[in-house]
Amino acid sequence: MDHAQNSAVPPVDQLGRPLRDLRISVMDRCNFRCPYCMPEATYHEGFRFLGPKERLDFDEIERVARMAAALGVTKIRLTGGEPLLRPGLPDLVRRLSALPGIEDVALTTNGVLLPRFAPALRQAGLRRVTVSLDSLDPVVFAHMSGGRGDLPAVLKGIDAVCAAGFEGGVKINTVVQRGVNDAGVPDILARFRNTGVTVRLIEYMDVGNRNGWARGDVVPSSELRARIAALWPLEALPPRYRGEVARRYRYVDGAGEIGFVSSVSAPFCGACSRARLSSDGKLYTCLFATTGTDLRTLLRANAGDGGSDERLRATLSQVWRHRANRYSEERTLSAGRKSDPEKIEMHYIGG
Ligand code: GTP
Ligand code: 5AD
Ligand code: SF4
Ligand code: SF4
Repeated sequence: MDHAQNSAVPPVDQLGRPLRDLRISVMDRCNFRCPYCMPEATYHEGFRFLGPKERLDFDEIERVARMAAALGVTKIRLTGGEPLLRPGLPDLVRRLSALPGIEDVALTTNGVLLPRFAPALRQAGLRRVTVSLDSLDPVVFAHMSGGRGDLPAVLKGIDAVCAAGFEGGVKINTVVQRGVNDAGVPDILARFRNTGVTVRLIEYMDVGNRNGWARGDVVPSSELRARIAALWPLEALPPRYRGEVARRYRYVDGAGEIGFVSSVSAPFCGACSRARLSSDGKLYTCLFATTGTDLRTLLRANAGDGGSDERLRATLSQVWRHRANRYSEERTLSAGRKSDPEKIEMHYIGG
């Protein structure tokens, strides 16, 4: 069978997992310096970020997304770095939302630029927004955003997305680190109970190579859940779709829903259908991958040099078929941090 025939069938990977979800990092830069993601010591004034020509342009991103949709992708999440630093992002949202097969376009952002962009994003067809917020305590927030965050602006951003009325709703992502922000989790929950905003508590992960992760920094979801349930009783909810990253719970008193993302204590690789496209056009088949497939060269080649849509589709399909990643499960089996050489840094692939 040649590539052309092969790539017409939606691929499954080596573990039988289909490709459903494409996470696109549109910008490697960020206006925060969260120590667990872009520690200032590495990402200082002299750090060389991608230049505009090194990043995929919107035509190129749209082409990859169109091919991915043809192979089974229905969900797209735009990430960074900070995606709202990418000029013209609402245009990209409009183009991606219009692609055949794409049912859901979502955004993960640190929130500070949302007051400016929320209405345009909503109008462009963005269905859902997730805002990262690690603490409501100004001192802890300042520490966890590397001294660059602006807490009042993030809260205004959350208000702005709530006011804009996104169809698929608004979520908060809180990365929990023991002894850093875990004591403040109830404050975050209290603030968003009864607002319709879902808070998701994320176990701190050993992504990238530069955050000095240690297992002792992780608060296992089971422990955190017990602490929360002592304040507000919780009841488990069924997953909304197979492979959902967060485990869902509702407050028994009816104040809403929260989620736990437990990739350290309870890995969910078995149903992982996510591919990640970095801002410089590499395709990664795992958050913890060490190498990606260069699509940018293919995208920029002339049709005669193999730059055709069919070739691109065949490449995507082949990469997915070869995929066998299950890093988080392997980490659990090896009972510690896996000593992979250079993992891709989070800000290139957006979590
Ligand atoms: P929904 O579509 O709303 O369910 O969200 P999502 O899971 O796509 O969203 P989000 O980007 O908010 O992810 C929440 C957290 O889970 C982030 O910290 C991600 O880094 C982490 N996460 C997402 N996908 C994966 C994954 O495939 N593997 C691991 N280990 N963590 C993931
Ligand atoms: N562990 C867990 N979550 C992380 N994020 C960034 N770095 C880490 C990490 N080391 C989260 C961000 C954002 C999401 C995309 O990933 O806070 O909400
Ligand atoms: Fe920026 Fe998000 Fe990374 Fe923080 S976690 S540095 S806000 S990309
Ligand atoms: Fe998917 Fe890799 Fe995360 Fe496992 S560790 S859920 S394979 S991205």
